[in-house]
Amino acid sequence: NAENARIKIDVERTIGEVNKNIYGNFVEHLGRCVYGGIYDPDSPHADENGFRKDVLEAAKGLNISLLRYPGGNFVSNYNWKDGVGPDRPKRLELAWQRLETNEVGTNEFMTYAKMLGTEPYFAVNLGTGTIKEAQQWVEYTNVKEGPYYAELRKKHGYPEPHNIKYWSLGNEMDGYWQMGHLNAIDYSKKAREAGKLMRLTSPDIKLIAAGSSNYRPDANPDEWNRTILEELKDYIDYIALHIYVGNPDDNYYNFMSTPLVIEERTKIVKGMINEVMQRTLRRDHTEDPIYIAWDEYNVWYRARSGANMVGDRALEEHYNLEDALVISGMLNAFIRNADVVKMANMAQLVNVIGPIFTSKDDMFKQTIYYPLALFANNMHGTSLDLFVDCETYDTEEFFLGLGETTTKQTDVPYLDVSATYKDDEVTIAVVNRHKDKAITTDLIAQTGEFTGSLEIFEVNGPDIKAKNDFGETNVATKKLESVKAKGKSVTYAFPPHSLTIIKGKIK
Ligand code: AHR
Repeated sequence: NAENARIKIDVERTIGEVNKNIYGNFVEHLGRCVYGGIYDPDSPHADENGFRKDVLEAAKGLNISLLRYPGGNFVSNYNWKDGVGPDRPKRLELAWQRLETNEVGTNEFMTYAKMLGTEPYFAVNLGTGTIKEAQQWVEYTNVKEGPYYAELRKKHGYPEPHNIKYWSLGNEMDGYWQMGHLNAIDYSKKAREAGKLMRLTSPDIKLIAAGSSNYRPDANPDEWNRTILEELKDYIDYIALHIYVGNPDDNYYNFMSTPLVIEERTKIVKGMINEVMQRTLRRDHTEDPIYIAWDEYNVWYRARSGANMVGDRALEEHYNLEDALVISGMLNAFIRNADVVKMANMAQLVNVIGPIFTSKDDMFKQTIYYPLALFANNMHGTSLDLFVDCETYDTEEFFLGLGETTTKQTDVPYLDVSATYKDDEVTIAVVNRHKDKAITTDLIAQTGEFTGSLEIFEVNGPDIKAKNDFGETNVATKKLESVKAKGKSVTYAFPPHSLTIIKGKIK
């Protein structure tokens, strides 16, 4: 039918392998993320170590590949030594202005990561911390025995090293808000020397440099990224980028286009990586190129000022369906750039700006939980370069979110699509951005044919502002009835404001 939208699937037209680490998450000492979130000894749901069993169960549903810890802004004034051993000093926590009890630290977090079955990803303090403290932390976690900090870990009851592979060299060091903020050259020097010491201590670690997080109008993120790539190209494995988008003007279609900004920024940084890699003389630790880690991303704008920013209940966003669709678009953008985006971490797992929300004795899954769970459990294998033909729209210039630059998007497709291919099975993720219209679409196999039936999952809700709450689920994943699919093409109508995941065999 000439009026239908079209998605053409050619399983030989590939982008790259989807790295499971794009389904990472993040636990920061912030608001009720750790205390009152993953850990709450006073809750009726606590286990013998104080961890919330109900939260752990929900987190398991997200199939989390990698868990970043302990910050975020928090890390830039954190001394890891306060969080190990029997004496835990209480500290004034400056990033989010609360009291840090240090009840949870390195070893407790590792216990949690093991229970969750996830790989840890640590960030060192390159704000107020020293390169020596960073090295000592790696010695504590990764060296089996012998030197002082390895023996100290054993004395603390952990005879085996934790073998933490992923380490980021500071957090958002381009941000003027960062404690110990540096300019690009000074950051590069400190990161290089810290990285050297850390890798001499534990040669197989992967290092992630703090790329740009500051896209305010007066910042120069491209300059920051170019400088640190140039200065650190022989040492790092990833450059980290951060993005938070919002809908401050309450304009649905503008908001729906925001994931495209991830794509733009990814392409710019990918170009810079390719450029500096041509002039790399010595990458002695790996043959791999430098990859991009979107190691903080989310929707965040409601709880972003005044009393909502700090203290024990900082940043408590309550998500709705349109937020879940934006998250779906962001995940699509990561998959469409699977050749270079090899890590992503939603910020953050619980409460604050996360997919799980708790009270002392209850919890619920926020709307953004559902797309993340669907992608993490289904979208694996090789990312496919699809042909998508559908109607488009343009936006006016608008603010991406508080404290961000403006953007204007043209030719935004109503259907936002990515696909993966594995063992003859294609999995297609489709966001229908249209608010009111179902979009009837021909899915066309360019190579081979559909065989068997299609498994279909949908995330949707009664309207774009629908939210979940304690005891109330309005937005969730529904498994729909399978559809028979035989031959070259199958037609499907994607409902308004929805995410659909379709799985089927193409042979
Ligand atoms: O995720 C909340 C904060 O956002 C993080 O601590 C910081 O890295 C970013 O500015």
